[in-house]
Amino acid sequence: MKRNELWRVRRRASVTIRLGVLAACLAAILGVATTVLAQHRMHGQPAKEDRNHPWMNASLSPDERANMVLKEMTLDEKIDLLHGMGMPGWPREVENPEPELGNGGAGFVLGVPRLGIPIVQISDAAYGVRSSAENGRYSTALPANIAAAASWDPEAACAFGMVIGKELRAQGYNMTLGGGVNITRDPRNGRTFEYLGEDPVLAGTLVGNLMKCEQAQHVIGDIKHYAVNDQESGRNEVDSIIGKRELRESDLLAFEIGVGIANPGAVMCSYNSWNGDFACENKYLLTDVLKKEWGFKGFVVSDWGGTHSTVKASAAGLDNEEPLDEFFGAKLKAAVEAGKVSTAELDDHVRRVLRSEFACGIVDHPTKKSVPDIEGDLATARKIEEQSAVLLKNAGGLLPLSGQAVMSIAVIGPHANEGMMSGGGSAQVDAPGRPSAGWQAQVWFPPSPIKVLEAKFPVANVQFDSGANPASAAALAKKSDVAIVFAYQWMSEGMDLENLSLPVKQDELIEAVAAANPKTIVVLETGTAVTMPWLDRVGAVLEAWYGGSKGAEAVVSILFGNANPSAKLPMTFPQNEVDLPHPQLVKPGPGQTGEAAVMKTGEAKPTFSVKYDEGLKVGYKWYDAEKKAVLFPFGYGLSYTTFAYSGLKVTAGRDTTVTFTVRNTGKRDGAEIAEVYAALPASAGEPPKRLVGWSKVWLKAGESKDVNVSVDAKYLSIYDETGGGWKLVPGSYTFMVGGSSQELPLSARADLK
Ligand code: BGC
Repeated sequence: MKRNELWRVRRRASVTIRLGVLAACLAAILGVATTVLAQHRMHGQPAKEDRNHPWMNASLSPDERANMVLKEMTLDEKIDLLHGMGMPGWPREVENPEPELGNGGAGFVLGVPRLGIPIVQISDAAYGVRSSAENGRYSTALPANIAAAASWDPEAACAFGMVIGKELRAQGYNMTLGGGVNITRDPRNGRTFEYLGEDPVLAGTLVGNLMKCEQAQHVIGDIKHYAVNDQESGRNEVDSIIGKRELRESDLLAFEIGVGIANPGAVMCSYNSWNGDFACENKYLLTDVLKKEWGFKGFVVSDWGGTHSTVKASAAGLDNEEPLDEFFGAKLKAAVEAGKVSTAELDDHVRRVLRSEFACGIVDHPTKKSVPDIEGDLATARKIEEQSAVLLKNAGGLLPLSGQAVMSIAVIGPHANEGMMSGGGSAQVDAPGRPSAGWQAQVWFPPSPIKVLEAKFPVANVQFDSGANPASAAALAKKSDVAIVFAYQWMSEGMDLENLSLPVKQDELIEAVAAANPKTIVVLETGTAVTMPWLDRVGAVLEAWYGGSKGAEAVVSILFGNANPSAKLPMTFPQNEVDLPHPQLVKPGPGQTGEAAVMKTGEAKPTFSVKYDEGLKVGYKWYDAEKKAVLFPFGYGLSYTTFAYSGLKVTAGRDTTVTFTVRNTGKRDGAEIAEVYAALPASAGEPPKRLVGWSKVWLKAGESKDVNVSVDAKYLSIYDETGGGWKLVPGSYTFMVGGSSQELPLSARADLK
């Protein structure tokens, strides 16, 4: 068994003195740095932290500051910055000699106290800070990342990131491992809930805004898992095979956009390999594209246990091995001493780590443990969920329910008396009032829907049935004004879903309840698409995703019209698994998992492969091109009001602008996510259309607004492998505008040269 899987099972100066004095005085005068002498231990020895240095002058650039520190460092100090010091529970032969320096997160990287360089304390934090239970702390669970994607709202993504950044620092962390942006090639991928959907422009824009705002709280930001880690089955051994053009225009475009917006301090390379070379030792991915082409200035950190070599990984562009020092500790030092890794290469790794520490503000703003703004963060979590739950069906305007008219409510579902579902694995946030649930346990966040409903409608008759016996649930539904079924699908890192059906016979339960009462509302708590064999029989469907700490309140406020839904699907809901590009998930065969299998030849090699031969046709692009009907299309979502589109104008050129008018034609205020797609000229060889922009428009009942969407030239371009770059294909482009990828009432052609 591979080490990290095992862990899962177990639980988972050359500066002159004169210059120094001058700069320190300057810094003191500017009030930008202080001199702190603190005691801690490094390598078992007491170490004084000295912050009295010229590079503490925050008016210098991060590059200048990093270079100044680098010149002062010994080889051992440099090596210290290039690997982790272990994760609680991660097995190692020699235990971490300095466990007391850790903060209980995913690990830490030693600092250089004599030079004022702090320890990097790292935590997972996909939809909230992980591991709070075992550390006796508090973390807010935001809605799952896929939910945040459904808001299509860069401001909501920013608020999401800010909450996490602030709570990380309150807990003593200065680096996040959030920022997952692998695009949804297969909705059965167990981590779909941690990612931002199937479209690279939407996912990249949102992860970029999320991480920009998280990092602004003075934590080192991270975007992960780079790249093509698009399934969990055999993730440590799988070779993801896909051509360069397809890669650049899909999976990598999401990273390119995200990295461009956030300038994250770190990018995490993934476990899998791409076209034969493991991501954490893949020169094309790490150096040619990320560092050179995109100009990424931060450091590449390996996924936990994802490093496979010293010299090859270092040359390819890996900067920091996590969570330990198997390849980037003594072996890296020996390789430097033997001349197998040049000092320039070593220094580049170190400079990148130092630069991120300065650029992200963790040197200038040491963490101070504090009490988080729990009320404020919960309010943000609720607001985001209200903007993220997608109304999929609302027959005859069943919703919103009227608190006055509905006197009896049947609340049905296996956990509707317990709480709201959350996603598992390293993303898991611990629920308040309970111990840590451990690796891959199902965690339900209180309060339960039934409690929230009872509190909101003290005079109504609110009754619960778990649905264990569909007949009894149906009987309760029959005698109630409405039935609300809270149905779930649990997902986690480290596993994929076998299929997209609701588990534990919930389809049967919904059929029985809907047969008894047509006013049946299904609230889905899922991290991905699900099939809905009962869709025609129910009155309404709300996709609530994993709703976070305020999930139940947000859902109830939507059901009763206190909030008007505005979210749209960031991924297609297919009718059936047979319509997926790969109806069968490819899994590793016998003997194809584990470190021994990967290291059989001495050099790390993947043991099996997944051919992403659908290439560019990810998500809606696949269904469009293959002319397959879907259950709910990408970009789809209802509101309690209605919108009309008119007046499309396209100004095409280097700067393309799409202008149109959206009018709220209904009786309620609401927000519409207006989507802009483009069809490229036939000679481009692209799927029928792609999302190139959108705008979320808030409109009062009856109000109209003119909307301008500027379209980045890259979003209209193709990646030309032979020419080695992005290019606009000259010809006629069709721009389409509307409220879903399949409802685009406006269309106009424009020629681009
Ligand atoms: C996951 C990463 C995570 C890391 C540390 C890995 O198994 O793939 O997403 O950040 O563990 O927990």
